[in-house]
Amino acid sequence: MKSHFVILVAVALAAGPVFSDTTSGSEDEAVTETTEELVPMVLDAELVEKGKKVFKKCKACHKIGDKAKNGVGPILNGIYGRAAAEVADYSYSDAMTAASAEGLIWDEESLRQYLKKPKDMIPKTKMAFAGLRKDKDLDAIMEFLKSISQEP
Ligand code: HEC
Repeated sequence: MKSHFVILVAVALAAGPVFSDTTSGSEDEAVTETTEELVPMVLDAELVEKGKKVFKKCKACHKIGDKAKNGVGPILNGIYGRAAAEVADYSYSDAMTAASAEGLIWDEESLRQYLKKPKDMIPKTKMAFAGLRKDKDLDAIMEFLKSISQEP
């Protein structure tokens, strides 16, 4: 049996709120902002390699790659930039599902926070992992997770 995993990484860059001032004769013309920030990720190959080693700590529970299957934890393909709790056939904790419903996106800040001390960020997460306390490990794992989240 062959499984095909189609990873759709949709990074929605939400437009800022629109304020309209109708109280006084507004001097400013309406500004239409169509800034689309397409920032290509430039990765540090050496750091990616280091991250691959740090990922050994995650491997017991997380698989990656085309043929990866969920284990104790969900597959992590395309994790960087996507919403939390999105692997369809994985049974997340209520806490993680709630965090996702509240709009948690796995970006630089949130991933670092979660991986540093999972239960500090999401107290009832079922990820039984103490966390990566060393900044150099966090830097490396971030680079590695980015590398598995984009087309080569
Ligand atoms: C002992 C098993 C275990 C280890 C080790 C582990 N995780 Fe997890 N991880 C989980 C579980 C279980 C979940 C689901 C959490 C939930 O639903 O609350 C999870 C969730 C996650 C998520 C959120 C996934 C999503 O789809 O939203 C990320 C990101 C993650 N882990 C990254 C890592 C990384 C990176 C490491 C290694 C540094 C790691 N984990 C180590 C078990 C583990």
